[in-house]
Amino acid sequence: ITRSGGGSSLGCEGSVLCHAVPCRAVLHPDIISTVEFNHTGELLATGDKGGRVVIFQREQESKNQPHRRGEYNVYSTFQSHEPEFDYLKSLEIEEKINKIRWLPQQNAAYFLLSTNDKTVKLWKVSERDKRPEGYNLKDEDGRLRDPSMITMLRVPVLRPMDLMVEATPRRVFANAHTYHINSISVNSDYETYMSADDLRINLWNFEITNQSFNIVDIKPANMEELTEVITAAEFHPHHCNTFVYSSSKGTIRLCDMRTSALCDRHAKFFEEPEDPSNRSFFSEIISSISDVKFSHSGRYIMTRDYLTVKVWDLNMENRPIETYQVHDYLRSKLCSLYENDCIFDKFECVWNGSDSVIMTGSYNNFFRMFDRNTKRDVTLEASRENSKPRAILKPRKVCVGGKRRKDEISVDSLDFSKKILHTAWHPSENIIAVAATNNLYIFQDKVN
Ligand SMILES: *[C@@H]1O[C@H](CO)[C@@H](O)[C@H](O)[C@H]1NC(C)=O
Ligand SMILES: *[C@@H]1O[C@H](CO)[C@@H](O)[C@H](O)[C@H]1NC(C)=O
Ligand SMILES: *[C@@H]1O[C@H](CO)[C@@H](O)[C@H](O)[C@H]1NC(C)=O
Ligand SMILES: *[C@@H]1O[C@H](CO)[C@@H](O)[C@H](O)[C@H]1NC(C)=O
Repeated sequence: ITRSGGGSSLGCEGSVLCHAVPCRAVLHPDIISTVEFNHTGELLATGDKGGRVVIFQREQESKNQPHRRGEYNVYSTFQSHEPEFDYLKSLEIEEKINKIRWLPQQNAAYFLLSTNDKTVKLWKVSERDKRPEGYNLKDEDGRLRDPSMITMLRVPVLRPMDLMVEATPRRVFANAHTYHINSISVNSDYETYMSADDLRINLWNFEITNQSFNIVDIKPANMEELTEVITAAEFHPHHCNTFVYSSSKGTIRLCDMRTSALCDRHAKFFEEPEDPSNRSFFSEIISSISDVKFSHSGRYIMTRDYLTVKVWDLNMENRPIETYQVHDYLRSKLCSLYENDCIFDKFECVWNGSDSVIMTGSYNNFFRMFDRNTKRDVTLEASRENSKPRAILKPRKVCVGGKRRKDEISVDSLDFSKKILHTAWHPSENIIAVAATNNLYIFQDKVN
């Protein structure tokens, strides 16, 4: 892992985040597939296509280097998943990490869940700065000593050593998913979590790996009747009985586990009727929801589809209370986006700590922020040129046809191979992490 960049900043004029901020650009060993802060934001975990997890830790405040506060440095790197082969189905199982979720800290160690398409693992990440020395039956290199040479008994002692961070797999939750896992979510009871694939959602206890409960199953008896798949699922942040899942038809179902063991009948069903004037061949594809997130307050849910982000009030099922256009200029380009498969890209979305701002990605390494109170929005770009020391991220504008102003970029020159699918927002501060292929960018408010 190499590091570059020093300080750069989140843009100002007309932006929701109106402060300068230092930034950090880290080149990842492989394409980043997920990004997640822990509950205090001091740790940031990323997963990649090669099955690795890299954890970054925020630099502690130090009196002589106050400007270094906020820098995230590599804390631990480990291989979470390996490529496998399913001999029964003759299928390769990729090692790519689809999702990472942190567990709240309960002792000196950190715990996180990571998943690929089929298997969820619980990892323990702990520090070691002492090592035992002076065993009787083996020497310092671990070789057995000749018993005839042992003439006296020693008491082993602990000696300080360089800090070592170890990652150990504590539990492996396997063989419960026939389809690809798209989501994992830790319940607020901290005893259970769920894993969702295209057609089913399972509930697990952290202590039990050989058994899970199926809580949603939408698989039709005849697979030819399949019209809808599950795309994302999440537990309510405070009510351990409630969860939501979204579908490829643009709908969201809220389920209550108290009503029955199998939550096939939803408690609430959120759907916006389609505007008939906008109907096209692509309507169904672009209405598929790629991400669903509860607000920290638990009052709202946010969904991302191909062109928009929507905010729904849990108390209103027939339409979203807010709809934000992420890149409406692509509406006329859907045909070519279908041909190059981009229309199937799965963009995620995140809330800031106070639920007042939402962020999601787009193409050309652009990402968007929407301020829900002022209704202002901004487009920013994550690029190496932008992460020069103390640079300020300038808002970007895309122009559609007509005359292009000097600082604008034409919709025809957008690079569709550069996409921001995964982002994360620090739970209590204005620090964001943006994954752009194999670069990780961290932007933050300037310290003063
Ligand atoms: C997040 O990580 C930090 C940094 O090491 C740790 O101190 C904190 O307890 C963690 N927070 C939670 C809620 O797990
Ligand atoms: C799971 O493992 C435990 C302990 O080994 C065992 O008691 C239990 O019967 C197993 N459950 C199933 C469903 O296999
Ligand atoms: C219909 O399309 C227009 C732009 O062509 C867009 O502004 C509007 O939000 C769309 N309506 C819906 C319900 O998506
Ligand atoms: C986002 O939430 C954090 C935490 O509540 C808050 O400090 C910050 O000001 C919010 N950001 C914006 C731009 O409102």
